[in-house]
Amino acid sequence: MRIIIESDAAAVAVRAATRVADLIRRSPGCVLGLPTGRTPLGFYGELVRRHEEDGLSFSRVVTFSLDDYIGLPPHHSASFAAYMRRNLFDHVDMDPENTHVLDGGAEDLLVACESYEAAIREAGGIDLQVLGIGSNGHIGFNEPGSSLGSRTRVKTLTRETLEANASSFEDLDELPRLAITMGVATILEARSCLLLALGEEKALTVRDMIEGPITAQAPASALQLHPDVTALLDEGAASRLQRRDYYRHRS
Ligand code: PGA
Repeated sequence: MRIIIESDAAAVAVRAATRVADLIRRSPGCVLGLPTGRTPLGFYGELVRRHEEDGLSFSRVVTFSLDDYIGLPPHHSASFAAYMRRNLFDHVDMDPENTHVLDGGAEDLLVACESYEAAIREAGGIDLQVLGIGSNGHIGFNEPGSSLGSRTRVKTLTRETLEANASSFEDLDELPRLAITMGVATILEARSCLLLALGEEKALTVRDMIEGPITAQAPASALQLHPDVTALLDEGAASRLQRRDYYRHRS
């Protein structure tokens, strides 16, 4: 795993956007896997800026969102589909046909999960999967205990995740208990992964992911098995890494 430590969140956003912009310029029809959450907001802002100011075009880019809640009304502002529109899709020249989101409102969720896996295969696989990490070590909504061989499926959310995401809901009764998520094995099939983590509150989780044992109890640790992963961290998120000096010296 390549570890890059940047001074702050803004520098992480710029570096992540540069990685994606370089890929799009090299390969305009590339396939991106995209996360939601607070962490990638600066990254999406930077991509929108590059579209507006530098002419970065998303017209042929294909995207797959990592996860979504189950049971929210289709246009609920906390849905991840709405998040993606608000923070990226509505501000760039993306072809709506090319933006795939998981359908947490599908009548048959099993079919929705299988169709998503099929759509990823038909698109030729994901070139770059961008990821955040939950404080409990989840990637996507693959909560601790998720099989490292899991595919896109329905997951019950943990109490920690519900608490972490509660601020997106005005009415806590609306908070979904279930989600639909790409599986750990689905994520590991991406050609490259770029994981972003910000802040000291993620420091122990980031340490477990990079320096701990590979275990379903910390699903992000499965990324140690992947041959091309970059973890892009700010100083806070990197602060508990035992080999921090080595990563700095190497990068
Ligand atoms: P956050 O969420 O970016 O809001 O911290 C990350 C995640 O849960 O994967």
